[in-house]
Amino acid sequence: MKAIDYLVNEHEEIILFTDRLEEECLKIMEDKLIDEKFFRAAIRYIREFADGVHHKKEEDILFKYMVESLGPAAEKLVKNGMLVEHQMARAYCMELEKSLESYLKSKDNRDLLQVITNTMSYVNLLRQHADKENKVVYPFAQKHLSNEIKDKIEIESFDLVEIEKRLMPMKEELKKIIFS
Ligand SMILES: [Fe+2]
Ligand SMILES: [Fe+2]
Repeated sequence: MKAIDYLVNEHEEIILFTDRLEEECLKIMEDKLIDEKFFRAAIRYIREFADGVHHKKEEDILFKYMVESLGPAAEKLVKNGMLVEHQMARAYCMELEKSLESYLKSKDNRDLLQVITNTMSYVNLLRQHADKENKVVYPFAQKHLSNEIKDKIEIESFDLVEIEKRLMPMKEELKKIIFS
């Protein structure tokens, strides 16, 4: 399925992004300084792309059809696993933003530690989450969804990808900040 290949490619991008977040945390440990511009761009990238683009496609299309048509095992896998982890990712991002704001005001090392902790919680979660989807969830969908449903997923994903294209200039701007 092209829709699944597309999601796997987005995982590759997200994993490169988590590597960059980890690198930035190591830098903080050495320098005891925060690059505010980097973290603001990273938080925006998480919200607009990792969540707003990637998780949205999973939730609104692939997972929706898995829950509707693949029975209780798929429903459990999606609702108790993947969707809970998406919520956790959102919560870590929110906590990261809070700790960043606190640190910028206080310059307290405790707040700095929270920035590192929240960033690495997000990194660790996303790495294992993407791996589970690549190895378990997507192959499960590929194997068990009917051809009729797969066709619907392909069409709906293609439509959403077309809409997402207008966000790409902003994504490139953020990537310039994050990967420079
Ligand atoms: Fe996901
Ligand atoms: Fe994913």
